[in-house]
Amino acid sequence: MNILEIIEAKKRGSELSPEQIGWVVRSFTDDAIPEYQMAAFLMAIWFQGMTESETSELTGAMLRSGEHLDTSGLGGPSADKHSTGGVGDKVSLLLAPLAAACGLRVPMLSGRGLGHTGGTLDKLEAIPGYRIHMDNAEFLAITARQGCAIIGQSDSIAPADGRIYALRDVTATVDCVPLITASIMSKKLAAGPATIVIDLKCGSGAFMRNLDQARSLASALMAVGQAYGRRMAVLFSDMDQPLGVAVGHANETLEALRALRPDGRLQAPADLVTLTEELVAEMVRVAGLASTGEEALAVVRQAWESGAAWERALAWVAAQAGRLDPDRDDLGLEIAPLAYELTAPADGWVAGMDCREVGLALADMGAARKRVEDPLDLTSGMDFLVSIGDKVAKGDVLARIFCPRRDQAETAAQRILRTLEFSEAAVPARELILDRMF
Ligand code: URA
Repeated sequence: MNILEIIEAKKRGSELSPEQIGWVVRSFTDDAIPEYQMAAFLMAIWFQGMTESETSELTGAMLRSGEHLDTSGLGGPSADKHSTGGVGDKVSLLLAPLAAACGLRVPMLSGRGLGHTGGTLDKLEAIPGYRIHMDNAEFLAITARQGCAIIGQSDSIAPADGRIYALRDVTATVDCVPLITASIMSKKLAAGPATIVIDLKCGSGAFMRNLDQARSLASALMAVGQAYGRRMAVLFSDMDQPLGVAVGHANETLEALRALRPDGRLQAPADLVTLTEELVAEMVRVAGLASTGEEALAVVRQAWESGAAWERALAWVAAQAGRLDPDRDDLGLEIAPLAYELTAPADGWVAGMDCREVGLALADMGAARKRVEDPLDLTSGMDFLVSIGDKVAKGDVLARIFCPRRDQAETAAQRILRTLEFSEAAVPARELILDRMF
């Protein structure tokens, strides 16, 4: 095969054969194609797009570049969730043990945060002792025994994606539906779950800014998942404001785990509870453990309120050597001691914000990464106390910012204040679940 002919064909909008796509991915991974030609190929895809079957072939080629976990011995139906990422999104930490308590097996491979979005792995590292690296056999054994496990994705999972993503990042080819689809699905399929539910975030804090973009990505993800025999569903959720109250690492982990306590459901932020329940209910329904959405939701609430999910959470974290102290209110996690209060400058209604800016305010405090290799301060964060549609009076606390130094807190507070919009007239609250696809 000839890479020039393949680039030329894609540039002119021709459909590539499975052999051509497989060959390009294999050759690039083996260093037989240089980065400049791969970059040209990716840009041709960016302009011309890919058909459903091309996207599926690209996903398969990236999946075959690495290992594939065998989930057949987990002792129950396997299911996973993928979120396209947002601010304050700590759902995986509640969802995995909750789904396990409903009878599912959840082998979850997670990533680190970058830019304005947080990563589940970083949040888990706020738990003293928690091991994010282990071999596949131990990972699957914990999942079988405890119902769930969450570890970092090793280099052996879809390594072609790691190399292609790094190139996309520096060639302005990240925002491309077939490339995003192949990237997400090659990693999700490698972890082997039979059911995959996608939380497709939509809004100013998300990758997909509007529902039309989100729908085209959802259709591509569903088509690829179904082509590989997976049961799929997509929930579209709002990301025009942070999810829940806590933003940061240790304090998001704390919010998530506290919520799982049997009495925590009613005290936790309502949006976090609703989204978590809806996603787990979709996993339960799609996996065949309930026949309707209502039945699935009842199963999920029972698992939560009975304390079964909390028991699962404690057992899973302990199995990964994490040390939680269930008798302490802070569960033994460390949060920065300074709590700086940002207050409302005037009476009014919260009308909107650029949610990305809230995540970037964290980066200013050293609690989010600008580059993958940056160290993180897991103890810094904030409680973001208002939502769009809330009425506030001058002097009300809008956010409580936790970090080691007052000057950092003031900088973050100013950034948040600049992005918050206020209105003198009432503003409606935002819908959380914007749509569904299954
Ligand atoms: N997440 C991924 O894993 N890959 C992309 O390309 C975009 C988001």
